[in-house]
Amino acid sequence: MALRIPLRVCPWWTLLCFGLLAAVARGSEKNHKYEDHEKVNLWVNKVGPYNNPQETYNYYYLPFCKRHPAMKAQHSWGGLGEVLQGNELIHSQLDIKFKESSTGTEICSMILDEHKASVFEDAIRRQYWFEMFIDDLPLWGFVGELKKDDKGVEQAYIYTSKKIDVSYNGDRIIQVNLTTAVPVLVAPGAKLDFRYSVDWHATKTPFSRRFERYLDYVFFEHKIHWFSLVNSFMMVLFLTGLVAIILMRTLRKDYARYARSAADALDGALDAESLERDFSEESGWKLVHGDVFRPPRHLTLLAASVGTGVQLVFLCTSVILLTIAGSFFEERGTILTCFIIAYALTSFIGGYVSGGLYARHEGRYWIRTMLLSASLFPGLCFGIAFGLNTIAIFYHSLAAVPFAYIMAVLLLWGFISFPLCLIGTIVGRNWNSIPNYPCRVKRIPSPIPDKHWYLRPWAICAAGGLLPFGSIFIEMYFVFTSFWNYKVYYIYGFLLLVVLILLVVSVCVTIVGTYFLLNAENYHWQWTAFGMSASTSFYVFLYSVHYFLFKTKMTGFFQTCFYFGYTSMFCLGLALLCGAVGYMAAAAFVRTIYRNVKCD
Ligand SMILES: *[C@@H]1O[C@H](CO)[C@@H](O)[C@H](O)[C@H]1NC(C)=O
Repeated sequence: MALRIPLRVCPWWTLLCFGLLAAVARGSEKNHKYEDHEKVNLWVNKVGPYNNPQETYNYYYLPFCKRHPAMKAQHSWGGLGEVLQGNELIHSQLDIKFKESSTGTEICSMILDEHKASVFEDAIRRQYWFEMFIDDLPLWGFVGELKKDDKGVEQAYIYTSKKIDVSYNGDRIIQVNLTTAVPVLVAPGAKLDFRYSVDWHATKTPFSRRFERYLDYVFFEHKIHWFSLVNSFMMVLFLTGLVAIILMRTLRKDYARYARSAADALDGALDAESLERDFSEESGWKLVHGDVFRPPRHLTLLAASVGTGVQLVFLCTSVILLTIAGSFFEERGTILTCFIIAYALTSFIGGYVSGGLYARHEGRYWIRTMLLSASLFPGLCFGIAFGLNTIAIFYHSLAAVPFAYIMAVLLLWGFISFPLCLIGTIVGRNWNSIPNYPCRVKRIPSPIPDKHWYLRPWAICAAGGLLPFGSIFIEMYFVFTSFWNYKVYYIYGFLLLVVLILLVVSVCVTIVGTYFLLNAENYHWQWTAFGMSASTSFYVFLYSVHYFLFKTKMTGFFQTCFYFGYTSMFCLGLALLCGAVGYMAAAAFVRTIYRNVKCD
């Protein structure tokens, strides 16, 4: 189901998606059109504590009785992303027919024994809520409520009645509301009669606008949002201006001086005095021309990281563009499915960039580099996900991913991502095999002079991330809040702007930082450039800790692990993405400034 929209947007995915993910269609829900008196499915999805969005359980984890206990549970298995995000739709067995109202129909009744009563009571005290779906529209409700009795003691009451209001326009369902009522005190021996009513109302709202009520316009149109965008934009203008002014002036002066002494040399005015003067004037970045193109330490890791990072830049931009085009946020799990498939398909780019970078530095272990590029990000994410899955299995949570879906992801990696990365590496190696650097590398590395602490690589790295972080952290609040606080994120056009600003700021900051580093005669610029922009993600991680402590009410081991597990994956991706952009910018910058220098 989750694949419906991507199929429409990009039909060439049809084969791939159906072959690999086998999404199950669900009758009329496929086209969202119903005939009068046609059966309408109500699916129950999950229950869990309201404050812990990832701690979810199967609806029947709570001892709710079933309408037809003997009937086999009918499942609706969704696409890859839907399952990975912990959804499991089970049919509620309720008889709902299109445009047929009913009142007080009995679902089932049960007598609470001691165990069931304590399970329900615990769930109500922890504010369990549940989620259901009608025609892909979600319905939410709390399991029960706490009421104070005469002595002021809080007692748990469970709602036994569900009233569903559905509005329709012609043959389509437009809006659904759920009202819970008739609270009954939870105690051993209590008799619970679960009932439901359905009311149908005609409406004029068009089908295309039925998701609008789930979008929190007030929250997302917040003034601070626009303020932050304008702010970041000013910062971009300021930074690009700064880069342009400082570097142009300094470099032009450097070039002019160099050109003068070259002209002197041509004129034969090569007396000892001018030679000495030139030599003493030669300081800063030009002195290290024999070392800047020396291969960096841990070349394999750098090549793999930069390759993956560039791949992530393409991946994120294309997923955001697809989401803008297709309104994917309306469908459970579609964005995640899209992300995973697009990762596999863009592996070629990762392989190409890492293979090319490695070959340009004349590295010899290209197979090892290729393996690392293919598995660096997926491997780390898979490791984190594996840990989280183990915890989820232990808790019997819905967040545990079924084995078949894990296999689907592994097959996607093995049969699409890996071969594409291999081909990319081979192409990259062949097209970039000549180093082609403006300056030859000296045989003996020069010593690096001791400079002030603020010109050391670690200080430059730590400072470098601050500005890019400053340009995105307000948007981070909105992204985090949608992810952890049940808001649908829908302003992807805005997100695209923020990503672009982040990239531009990272590029500017790395260029300035690299210039300072080279001027301090330190030629280890590759990792410094990478770390300078990658440190943005370190600040994002710090921000996420702040967010966890002060903006959410998550509790318990399970939710804490999931919060930090997902945040680590996100920060890891962000670090690779920013780092790669920084490295590419610095590499282009270094090539440019040394091109006009006479090297020896
Ligand atoms: C659902 O609730 C909202 C807000 O209370 C109301 O405006 C809307 O008319 C209701 N829809 C139906 C189908 O009852």
